[in-house]
Amino acid sequence: MQVKIWITLAMAACLGAGAHAADGNAEMAKGKISMCVGCHGVPDYKTAFPSVYKVPKLGGQHPQYIVAALKEYKRGERSHPTMRAIAESLSEQDMADIAAYYGDAK
Ligand code: HEC
Repeated sequence: MQVKIWITLAMAACLGAGAHAADGNAEMAKGKISMCVGCHGVPDYKTAFPSVYKVPKLGGQHPQYIVAALKEYKRGERSHPTMRAIAESLSEQDMADIAAYYGDAK
């Protein structure tokens, strides 16, 4: 089950990153999430390209999981083309800020 592998990776990243993890600032994320809400802000939204896809919910997700997922897209370890393009444009600080924002949002 892929989801379990991702969660294990996220937990490993959490332990491994330790004190080096950038501190996320949810306030700083507000200018950065405008490009995410079009897909992730809509309950039950499905993208039509490149194939019909259910967009996962980000609000309430563990911040470390969000950062780990974004890094996996950036490194090409996750293959969704849109998310890879988006993650490539994000710095580690952007990811931490966005994760803090969504991690707090319910
Ligand atoms: C064009 C629509 C679209 C946009 C815009 C978009 N996403 Fe995504 N996102 C998706 C889809 C579809 C997936 C699921 C892909 C997959 O299964 O790998 C996803 C997956 C994710 C995941 C993994 C979630 C999980 O539960 O595994 C994270 C984290 C994420 N997106 C964050 C973001 C952030 C942060 C932004 C803005 C900077 C963003 N996305 C913008 C469509 C989008």
